[in-house]
Amino acid sequence: MAASSQAWGSRVGLILAMAGNAVGLGNFLRFPVQAVQNGGGAFIIPYLICFLLMGIPLLYIEWSSGRFGGKFGNHSTPYILDSMVKGRILKYIGVFGIFTNVAVAAYYCYIESWTMSYVYHSLRGTFNGMSQHGVADFFNNYVDISKSSTGIPYEAVVFYILCLLLNTFILSKGLKGIEKVAKIGMPLLILFGAILAIRGLTLGTSGASELFPNANAWDGLNFLWTPQYDSILDLKVWMAAAGQIFFTLSVGMGTIHCYAAYMNSKDDIALNAVSAGFMNEFVEVVLGSLIVIPIAAGYLGLDWVLENAGFGMAFQTMPYLFQQWGPMLAAIAGLLWFGLLFFAGITSSLAMGTPWIGFMRDEFNWGQNKGAWSFGLLILVMGLPTVIFFQEGVFDEYDYWAGTVSLVVFAMLETILFSWIFGMKKGWAEITSGADIQVPLIYKFIIKFVTPVMLIIIFLGSLFKPLNNDWSGNVSSLLSGNGWSLDNGSIIKTITHAGIKEKIMAATDPAIIGQLESQILYLNFARILLLGLFVFISALVYVAFLKRRREGRATL
Ligand code: ALA
Repeated sequence: MAASSQAWGSRVGLILAMAGNAVGLGNFLRFPVQAVQNGGGAFIIPYLICFLLMGIPLLYIEWSSGRFGGKFGNHSTPYILDSMVKGRILKYIGVFGIFTNVAVAAYYCYIESWTMSYVYHSLRGTFNGMSQHGVADFFNNYVDISKSSTGIPYEAVVFYILCLLLNTFILSKGLKGIEKVAKIGMPLLILFGAILAIRGLTLGTSGASELFPNANAWDGLNFLWTPQYDSILDLKVWMAAAGQIFFTLSVGMGTIHCYAAYMNSKDDIALNAVSAGFMNEFVEVVLGSLIVIPIAAGYLGLDWVLENAGFGMAFQTMPYLFQQWGPMLAAIAGLLWFGLLFFAGITSSLAMGTPWIGFMRDEFNWGQNKGAWSFGLLILVMGLPTVIFFQEGVFDEYDYWAGTVSLVVFAMLETILFSWIFGMKKGWAEITSGADIQVPLIYKFIIKFVTPVMLIIIFLGSLFKPLNNDWSGNVSSLLSGNGWSLDNGSIIKTITHAGIKEKIMAATDPAIIGQLESQILYLNFARILLLGLFVFISALVYVAFLKRRREGRATL
């Protein structure tokens, strides 16, 4: 085993890196969309409860597991788990903690590369004088790599590779590089966010479009924050809230374990973990909700926002909205907004590189450079299909399996391992050792009982999501003996492509049928890549086990 000479330079550096890992595109692009789609004010209560009952417990579990594994020289989840619980098989659960990062980084870096390109185009004035349609088409042509309307052939691929090179280069500098980016990026991101939020809120009706002459940013804000208690009982809202908590805090991924493994064994977890977590929540709930929705609502009206809320909205609309501020301000606002997204993205994607690098160093003595460049290559191989076949759904397929399902599965399994197999007595001792604050005792109970039960419910709920997401209707149907109808969005039906097959059955036009059939082929291709990656990492864990056994270091 290569003794790791890596360690965090300072406490501030560690917290900013951890917060940077959490604060990402999810805070600015995913959160507002989730909130709008799930009833605005209705979303926030389940969201905050999920933060308290799953988010904070998972932060504690992952920080303390990581610090524990680090004491034994382990910096990635397979052998962090192995140092906590005995059993040949259990370390393979940790494969998720490397797999998810590689698979998510592959498509996440693609969004990150859009932000780089949009900074460039904002400064170049590409969007000057473009209509709303023009800006939306620009994005659609950008992701359709055969149609370059930007003057750079295959621009999406070029920026993607540039973005990967930048990530790989910083990773090759080790934790110092990451800490530096976090120390510069996080304060800049908050500053840029605050400037844009203030600008948005002071638009008044001067920002309103002809269509909505009286609209202003406050309408969007009121919608987001007016509590609507009726949908609190809707399980769909809870599922969405839980999913957002996983994604935004980066729990269930393996990055937190890895970062925490580089801590000193006497360092505090109790305060550090909540500081990073609350910093993420501040950026998400305050800044995340103060930019896209209010500005878009001011110019395009709330109805438009409700109809068009989606991940690409920020790219399809913001450059147009900024144009209304005049060319000079538009360039500055474009730089601030896409620059903010870029910093949010890169501090998260860098974190995704560290579990692989840590694993290869611990097990195969790979140096930082070799680890970083092999990660870059792996991402290139896994990521190019998401760039080239974006339109065919490969990107979304990755997001579903790696960025959604995988997080819940790993979070559920690691929580059960921590609370029930490692044991809550040892677990609590780990969480509280070196603590600078007193962790409320109630969390011992929550981590042992509430969090695992909630995670199991969420996992089963996604597996068996009922038709039309109608939980109450399906529960009463089940109770009255009429069975449970699965929705096409349930994990089970998604595996069989039930939704697409239904469309094929209903279609009469052979061209459409052909298109849908080829879509299934692309999605299967994406799945083979993901499965191949999982098997590849599992095989490496096995080879590492054989090596450890030869060297007399294997636990079993
Ligand atoms: N936590 C990161 C984000 O919010 C992945 O984007």
